[in-house]
Amino acid sequence: MASSDVRLSVALVDVAEGREVEFLALATRFEALLLRKEYGRAEMIRDEAVPLRFYAVRHWADAAAAERCHADPDVQALTAAFAKIARVTHVVNGVRRPGPPQRFLENRRASLESDRRSGFDRRAKNVGPKSGGERRARDRRLGPRRVREGAGDLDLVGAARRAREHADAAYSHFKVGAALETADGTVVTGCNIENATYGLTICAERVAIFKALSEGHRAFTRIAIVADTEAPTPPCGACRQILWEFGGNLEILLANLREKRGTHRLKDLLPLPFDARLL
Ligand code: THU
Repeated sequence: MASSDVRLSVALVDVAEGREVEFLALATRFEALLLRKEYGRAEMIRDEAVPLRFYAVRHWADAAAAERCHADPDVQALTAAFAKIARVTHVVNGVRRPGPPQRFLENRRASLESDRRSGFDRRAKNVGPKSGGERRARDRRLGPRRVREGAGDLDLVGAARRAREHADAAYSHFKVGAALETADGTVVTGCNIENATYGLTICAERVAIFKALSEGHRAFTRIAIVADTEAPTPPCGACRQILWEFGGNLEILLANLREKRGTHRLKDLLPLPFDARLL
């Protein structure tokens, strides 16, 4: 290793049912590539307690090697192959540095219909980052784990339920959890956090999306919202506006502590939206 720093990334990976052999073969190729190009060392560790769950551990030679690795088209090709058969929940302890725009963990979810990110697309054109170099595609989020809903599926509702447990709803006692799925399959959660002034309260949905934006995520697919009520709890008006602007026509899953209570499209909840296209 070129540096004395320990630079380690750990990604939690859930492999689709029936694709494990293929996945492990890709992992072997990935390990060989990292060694051959002297980016570092990779290993895939199986979670003995959870079928089809692995931890992809990467020991980087140094920060620059990690950057080069993420920008390497050979690596990106392998990563794209991974994305077809496995989903990365989150990555911890990664090297964080600005680099060239990368499409590191893009999967089929990233091929979004045009209006799905309209708020963001327009925003990026007008007031977004000055250059692509300021953006990172590689997720380094520290966050809660996801659980399996069905084979290889993301249990967004479960993540929202767990996030709800952290709600600080001292005044309303109405706890809400949200789990936002990014285009690369990462889940970023939020809960409502209240304030003695009441007005400074922030909803679970906005906590989730602001967290995600602050971690560099810019494309979103779904959000689950959970409250302990019989009737589903839809996002408030302020959250609809923010979700639209940054997430576009998201799929919205509403659930309570026991069951899913409905699926909507944000466009239906926010018809005739005001957004940057009108500025
Ligand atoms: N709240 C949310 O977090 N999300 C929603 O979708 C509706 C309302 C929060 C705000 C406040 O802390 C509490 O629920 C009662 O309004």
